[in-house]
Amino acid sequence: MSIPELNSAFDVQDFLANYWQKKPLYIPQLIPGFKDPISPEELAGLAMEADCESRLLEGTEPDSWKLSQGPFTESRFTELPDDGWTLLVQAVDQWNEPVFDLKQLFRFLPQWRIEDVMVSFAANGAGVGPHFDYYDVFLVQGSGERNWQIGPKYSSKSKLKNCSGLSILEEFEAVADYTLQAGDALYVPPQYAHWGKSQQRSLCYSIGCRAPSAAEILEGYSDFMIDRCEPEDRYTDPLTQMPKRRGEIDTQSVSNSFRKLVETIDNEENYYRWFGQFATRPKIQNSISGPEQPYTETELLADLTGGAVIAINPSSRFSFLELKPGGKTLFFVDGESIDLAPQLSWFAHSLCKAPEISKQDIKKITQTPESLAYILRLLNQGSLISY
Ligand code: SIN
Ligand code: CO
Repeated sequence: MSIPELNSAFDVQDFLANYWQKKPLYIPQLIPGFKDPISPEELAGLAMEADCESRLLEGTEPDSWKLSQGPFTESRFTELPDDGWTLLVQAVDQWNEPVFDLKQLFRFLPQWRIEDVMVSFAANGAGVGPHFDYYDVFLVQGSGERNWQIGPKYSSKSKLKNCSGLSILEEFEAVADYTLQAGDALYVPPQYAHWGKSQQRSLCYSIGCRAPSAAEILEGYSDFMIDRCEPEDRYTDPLTQMPKRRGEIDTQSVSNSFRKLVETIDNEENYYRWFGQFATRPKIQNSISGPEQPYTETELLADLTGGAVIAINPSSRFSFLELKPGGKTLFFVDGESIDLAPQLSWFAHSLCKAPEISKQDIKKITQTPESLAYILRLLNQGSLISY
């Protein structure tokens, strides 16, 4: 199957300046000549796998829906009626190479921001009801037609009803209406309501973004900082006199404790490190594992000089952050960080240019012991693969 391409008429600069995180955009023929990267049968096959997250929504009216979680048996699919059900499969890019290729088209966004590609197959008349998500999403239409109604921006204060475990807007008023055909797309910013209804049997590819909530950031960064606390880092109070009022908590001591807390978290390098680790956490935990027989440095060197290809494991996430221009680089791989001195920053840049390390960079790696050691480590943990 040929690798899809974005329509050359799609103006990325205009999109980023005027629509990204601002307002919805209908993009006819974002991917001209679009062919489904996965068939409905293959999608159903994935939904039968225990490690793959999938849901089946039966019924056309939210009030009478039935939502079931996968994995499903084959007979579950053969017994379904012709109309009125939707199969939703999460992170299909992790299981299917052509869907992974589709995700690569969105490289005009920072790589870490793309969370996954969810694929939905909807029978005639089906849809998941009027709702909003807290992240940006590109809805790319595959075969069949789907009608999308777009509403205004809603919030956590908007009235919702729980329909079989899905949060549906109680009041939805469409402000725009589009019927999407293969290759057409809709960009929907966070909190904008949308409601898709399949006109026939249709496939839709939702390219969703990673957008941590303030609560997740607070929790994640706190956990990261907790791991760095020593038992002797404790509350202290330089008491100079006896408490005047029984039961009173002395504001001066609490304020000292508060200042210490603020000083502990007010460390940009720590925060950047946590952020990069968070941003590169694999979508599916335990999806990355090294070879049964770890490589030795001698084997690796022999393979590399013999022309071996080093590629990124499609489940792996690589990113980097330069602390200041020309300074140390924090290189993030699958939720871990590696500190690179400025003269090794090229190594991070090279590995982030997925899917394969260039021949020129392989030569450089074989000549630089530190980078060779990192390649060995990443191969043995499964973030890189060699063939
Ligand atoms: C769908 O594929 O039907 C739902 C996708 C979405 O609303 O984000
Ligand atoms: Co949605």
